[in-house]
Amino acid sequence: MTATDHDPAAPPESRTIRTFHPRRGRMSGRQTDALDRLWPAYGVDVPDGPVQPVELADLFGRRAPVVLEIGSGMGDSTAAMAAADPDRDYLAVEVHTPGIANLLDLVERGGLNNVRVARGDALDLVRGLPEGALDAVHVFFPDPWPKARHHKRRIIQPSHVALLRSRLTPGGTLHCATDWAEYAEAMRETLDADPGLVDAYGGFAPRPAHRPVTKFERRALTAGRPVTDLIYRRR
Ligand SMILES: C[S@@+](CC[C@H](N)C(=O)[O-])C[C@H]1O[C@@H](n2cnc3c(N)ncnc32)[C@H](O)[C@@H]1O
Repeated sequence: MTATDHDPAAPPESRTIRTFHPRRGRMSGRQTDALDRLWPAYGVDVPDGPVQPVELADLFGRRAPVVLEIGSGMGDSTAAMAAADPDRDYLAVEVHTPGIANLLDLVERGGLNNVRVARGDALDLVRGLPEGALDAVHVFFPDPWPKARHHKRRIIQPSHVALLRSRLTPGGTLHCATDWAEYAEAMRETLDADPGLVDAYGGFAPRPAHRPVTKFERRALTAGRPVTDLIYRRR
């Protein structure tokens, strides 16, 4: 665990190893329109600078259990899970603007009131949440950073796991899924080593029906890469 993870005043220069690839992407007309119209109502900016406290009850306009979806990609999982789970609120966080815009479009089309979308580094967002604020954290198909010299960029690593766990309510779940076998093993080692987490299944978890199939999973299965779920609970 690093001091940075628990010190909201830590300077931003100590948080410069990012877990995402900088990338551009073209937005469709529909996505541009969704972003322009819906961002003021559903969007949350995560600034690069000092950590900003996030008030979840203000954000959602109610007090309900909150699921944090880290790296929501195009938003298909978030939108489907939120639609099937109206008693919990879903906070998605992503850096890729076309994905954010796509999720906003899905939120409007689905008439979903329990989704908000944050733009910026998930770890900075999490630092701004109070301890025990989250019912669940989902990390589905995080970038695998396969080269050894890039492993420091992986989102599932001890200091990040300690940070995520601290924001879970006792009994809350940290659910990861990956199609990268070596990362799955590394995740298991890291999650097993965290003293505040318990493996809910005593090994890799069976694929839960509530996790929607996204293009990452379809692509992996077509390429013959099995998908692994890991589900841990905060003690
Ligand atoms: C491989 S994609 C998976 C997307 C989605 N979870 C799915 O299953 O379809 C990983 C995503 O995580 C995002 N990401 C990685 N690190 C992040 C971070 N620290 N904060 C926000 N988004 C992040 C990337 O931009 C990328 O869109």
